[in-house]
Amino acid sequence: MADARAFYITTPIYYVNDVPHLGHAYTTIACDAIARFMRLDGRKVMFLTGTDEHGQKVEKSAAEAGEDPKDFTDRVSQRFRELTQALECTNDDFIRTTEARHIRASQAIWQALIDAGDIYLDKYAGWYSVRDEAYFAESELTKGPDGEKLAPTGAPVEWVEEPSYFFRLSRWQQPLLDHYAKHPDAILPDSRRNEVLNFIKGGLQDLSVSRTSFKWGVPVPGDDAHIMYVWLDALTNYLTAVGYPDVDAESFQTFWPNAVHIVGKDIVRFHAVYWPAFLMAAGITPPVRVFAHGWWTVEGQKMSKTLRNVVEPFKLIETYGLDQVRYFVLREVPFGNDGDFSRAALIHRINGDLANDFGNLAQRVLSMTQKNCDAAVPHPGAFSDDDTAMLDAAHCLIETIRPQMEREAPHEALETIWTVIRAANAYVDRQAPWALRKTDPERMATVLYVLSESLRHLAIVTQPFVPDAASQLLDQLAVDDGARHFDHLGPRHALTPGTALPKPQGLFPRLDETAGEAQSAAS
Ligand code: MSP
Repeated sequence: MADARAFYITTPIYYVNDVPHLGHAYTTIACDAIARFMRLDGRKVMFLTGTDEHGQKVEKSAAEAGEDPKDFTDRVSQRFRELTQALECTNDDFIRTTEARHIRASQAIWQALIDAGDIYLDKYAGWYSVRDEAYFAESELTKGPDGEKLAPTGAPVEWVEEPSYFFRLSRWQQPLLDHYAKHPDAILPDSRRNEVLNFIKGGLQDLSVSRTSFKWGVPVPGDDAHIMYVWLDALTNYLTAVGYPDVDAESFQTFWPNAVHIVGKDIVRFHAVYWPAFLMAAGITPPVRVFAHGWWTVEGQKMSKTLRNVVEPFKLIETYGLDQVRYFVLREVPFGNDGDFSRAALIHRINGDLANDFGNLAQRVLSMTQKNCDAAVPHPGAFSDDDTAMLDAAHCLIETIRPQMEREAPHEALETIWTVIRAANAYVDRQAPWALRKTDPERMATVLYVLSESLRHLAIVTQPFVPDAASQLLDQLAVDDGARHFDHLGPRHALTPGTALPKPQGLFPRLDETAGEAQSAAS
């Protein structure tokens, strides 16, 4: 059942205290691109996303909205589900932590931690940030403008004193260090790995894992006065979705040993310190990797409700197009770094990379073929060195981008693909098929064939990133639905000369520099 070619990818589950914004869309888009890539590459994929619905933060937001927490979470969770649909996400499951299957899994992991002797009852007295749903030591706090105490994230903290169960995190310090020494790629990028290692080496305190001062959470088995700490509950979602506590389930056996968690840099500590410690204590192997991406600012500023610059993904897609938004966020910023979102940068990418480079290449080749080759795949003659070099570049693409995607570097994969797009544009200019039309129509057909075959490769490998445009391009090249996987790359599955081609249509319209200006994407 264990299958090294299986692949399990997860987004963080999103807090339902807020409506979806660009930060949420970003993680989901990245995971979707990676999941689509792996499926096209013949791997068995499970892609999970969902919502994090318990805890004090959500309970407070429900109260502020004057709603019962269950009604509130139903409503906001639905908005996140709609986001995954609007992003045309290929998630295999959408988990909600209020579901019965998840409550069962959370209580089961609790029991496993009890059985391991890793949980004990005591009293918590210390600082808590509701916004971060995290405990902070006095030494970690900073002072705000009015002298108030703040968490390192800038969130306000409150003093909490209540009976609490503790997890013996301190016991896991050395096993965690040993685990990371053995698995150097278990945290990426390296900067995050170093941050985590330093934190662990600094000494781990036992962690408070239950609360008694509010009710919105998973009850601690055997002690209803306590609810489980929301992060222990939330992290367990990754197990729930593959069938935990049934560790013999096929889904668990297949996917858990291949789990990759994609998270934002702000939640690395939860995923790379607490989570593997909980898992090891419960006798479960830690995930293969936690990859932390950076944060987006907007036009140079932190995205915040107070600044009224929160980028709404639904509006963004409506204004600029889904493929365009997907491409921009994946290409503009190296995955793992922080980045800035600006309308100008988005339009620049759309008009430059998508319209001028890719769209124009497809348009030139397909419309010349339509007009001059009887609207059918051209019949090539003998290939010149230049033709062979062009075809080789297209055929080799997958070998370069596969390792890039396997290390969660979609920006590198796109850069690689675009070098071939630019090479194809340079080849068109060099070969000037429009001039050959009169002087050497056979040679023109060969050039257009080489280009069409290169376009077929480009369309296949761009499917994970710009799925709609790539599938339109494959339609325009008359490539069958069953011939769009990566095992159809290479010369063996080359286009068949003479195949009728439909009328070409533009893939990426150019935008006016002022597009979306009045109807700003930020609300
Ligand atoms: N509920 C927790 C995750 C639990 S996972 C077991 C949570 N939720 S969140 O909704 O606050 O954040 C979800 C993700 O959105 C995080 O990975 C966070 O890094 C990401 N982002 C939030 N704002 C962001 C930006 N401005 N830019 C990029 N990503 C950002 O944390």
